[in-house]
Amino acid sequence: MKLLEGRSAIVTGASRGIGRSIALEYARQGAVMVLNASRASDALDDTAAEIRRMGGRCETVPGSVVEGATARALVEKAVATFGKLDILVNNAGIVRDKPLVMMSEREFDEVLAVNLRGVYQCSREAVRQMMRQRHGRIISISSVAALAGRPGQCNYTAAKAGIVGFTKSLAREAGKYNVLANALFVGVMETDMYRRMPAAAKKELRQFIPLQRVGRPEEVAGPCVFLGSDLSTFVTGTTVNVSGGSYV
Ligand SMILES: NC(=O)c1ccc[n+]([C@@H]2O[C@H](COP(=O)([O-])OP(=O)(O)OC[C@H]3O[C@@H](n4cnc5c(N)ncnc54)[C@H](OP(=O)(O)O)[C@@H]3O)[C@@H](O)[C@H]2O)c1
Repeated sequence: MKLLEGRSAIVTGASRGIGRSIALEYARQGAVMVLNASRASDALDDTAAEIRRMGGRCETVPGSVVEGATARALVEKAVATFGKLDILVNNAGIVRDKPLVMMSEREFDEVLAVNLRGVYQCSREAVRQMMRQRHGRIISISSVAALAGRPGQCNYTAAKAGIVGFTKSLAREAGKYNVLANALFVGVMETDMYRRMPAAAKKELRQFIPLQRVGRPEEVAGPCVFLGSDLSTFVTGTTVNVSGGSYV
C-alpha cells in the first residue's frame, strides 16, 4: 500500500541531503511533487530525474524560499500541474556557525531568513490554498539543537526554535480548516558536514546518542510520510523527535 498515493506535495531544499531523501521516499509512496532548491543545479535535476526513473511525476521550481515570489511560484506550480496542494515540507536550511561575539549581523540575518522567514513565506502561500481545499499538511524541519542549544549556533537555534512556536500557532489558526501543522526535531545526520569531522569528534558525538550512531537522511523521510498521510489525521501542533534519542 502506498501511503501518499495521489497526494500533491512541495519539498523545499530537495537537491541534497535530507530533502532529497524525503522527496525520493514521497515518490515511492505515490506522491506527485514540486521540488525546490535555492537555484537551478545538476543536483536538483538529479533528484527529479531519479523520481521520473521510478515512474513518479515531479516539477522543479528553483529559487530562494526567503522570497515571497518563490513561495507563490511553488504553490502555483503545484495547483496548475496537479490541481491541488496536499503537503508542504519546509526543509530548506543553512548554517553559518560562529561564536556569538564573532557573528556578524549578516550571518545572523541570513540564517534567520532561510530557516525561519522561508518557513513563513512557503507556509503562508500553502495555507491559503489548503484552507480553500479544507485539507492540508505543513511539515517543518527543526533541529534538536533548538532544544539543547549548541555552541556557535545562536543564529541557527533561534531560527529552529522559532519554527516550533510558528508551528503551534499555525496549528491553532488552521485547524478549523483541517490544515495540520507539525515539526520535526532532527538530530545529527550523516551528511557531508558530519563526514568531514575528525574521528575523535565523531566518537564523542555518538556517545551522547542512545542509539550510539548518527542518523541517515532517509530516516527523516519516514516520519515525514507519517505526518503527510492518513495515519496522522488527528496529529497537529506537535513535534516528532528524530534524533536517536539524543534529547530525551
Ligand atoms: N544534517 C543534519 O545533521 C541536520 C540536523 C538537524 C536539522 N537539519 C535540518 O534539515 C534540513 C536539511 O538539512 P541537510 O543537512 O539535508 O542540508 P543540506 O545537505 O545542506 O541541503 C540544504 C538544502 O536546502 C537548500 N537551500 C539552502 N538555502 C536555500 C534557500 N534560500 N532557498 C531554497 N533552498 C535552499 C539547498 O539547495 P541548494 O542545493 O540550491 O543549495 C539544499 O537543497 C535543514 O533545515 C537543516 O537545518 C539537518
